[in-house]
Amino acid sequence: MSEPRTALVTGASRGLGRATARALARHGVRVALTYRGGADGAVETVRTIEEEGGEAIALRLDIGDIAGFEQFAEEMTGALRTRWRADRLDVLVNNAGVGLFDTLEDVTPRRFDEIVGTNFRGTYFLIQALVPHLADGGRIVNVSTSLTRHVSPGTSVYAASKAAVEAFSLSLAEELGPRGIRVNSVAPGPSATDFNGGAMRDDPALRDALAQQTALGRVGSPDEIGDAIAALVSPDMRWVTAERLEVSGGALL
Ligand SMILES: NC(=O)c1ccc[n+]([C@@H]2O[C@H](COP(=O)([O-])OP(=O)(O)OC[C@H]3O[C@@H](n4cnc5c(N)ncnc54)[C@H](OP(=O)(O)O)[C@@H]3O)[C@@H](O)[C@H]2O)c1
Repeated sequence: MSEPRTALVTGASRGLGRATARALARHGVRVALTYRGGADGAVETVRTIEEEGGEAIALRLDIGDIAGFEQFAEEMTGALRTRWRADRLDVLVNNAGVGLFDTLEDVTPRRFDEIVGTNFRGTYFLIQALVPHLADGGRIVNVSTSLTRHVSPGTSVYAASKAAVEAFSLSLAEELGPRGIRVNSVAPGPSATDFNGGAMRDDPALRDALAQQTALGRVGSPDEIGDAIAALVSPDMRWVTAERLEVSGGALL
């Protein structure tokens, strides 16, 4: 399996997606990254990657809008061709996602549909739209959460939407194995980003409580997730597929 040359990272206007795009670029991968509302953040991610000596382009994508995926695939392949003369994607990182921290009595059908429609349905159909453009020997990484293994209050819908992602990742590893495509999920533990209103970054009491629940004694930084994803798609991991890699510093063991 050769070194990956091109990647698409969804939701890279900030947070774990930005860190993943940067980590891949540091490994010499040319990165197409997506944003939904955060155009300025996406520009900032591209600028940072270029300052670090890498190459990146930003494209708009709403993974809740599956009707737009065909057009997005055309835009993406056009951009890869024009910018890098590349006709295939080597790596697809499905990182874009949204959280919900409501207990049973507060979950509304609208919020349920938004979380499941983004994290599960959107991710699934984006893969369906992009797999024809993925090189044989390519890699798919689906970002899940440590919450599929342990419980935290108010996360039933969010965790279930990510458990679905882990489940279909296994099936896709089997379906796409004949093309040499590896499919794995990465399950981050609590990480300091805007996620959940920035609580893991900005609420010292919550951060301390979560830190005490990890073997390594702190919450994770975005770079620690990005570096793990970049390592997972490297040729050194060529025999690893259908795995769930938890990157949580040993949360709630
Ligand atoms: N941070 C954590 O503690 C943690 C732990 C476990 C798993 N995760 C997972 O890691 C992933 C990234 O989380 P994060 O912490 O980096 O979150 P974040 O800081 O809130 O960033 C979320 C990213 O997803 C994008 N996004 C949201 N909804 C989208 C949609 N419908 N279509 C396209 N893009 C969309 C956002 O784009 P715009 O800003 O452009 O709108 C943004 O780039 C998520 O899947 C999350 O579930 C996070």
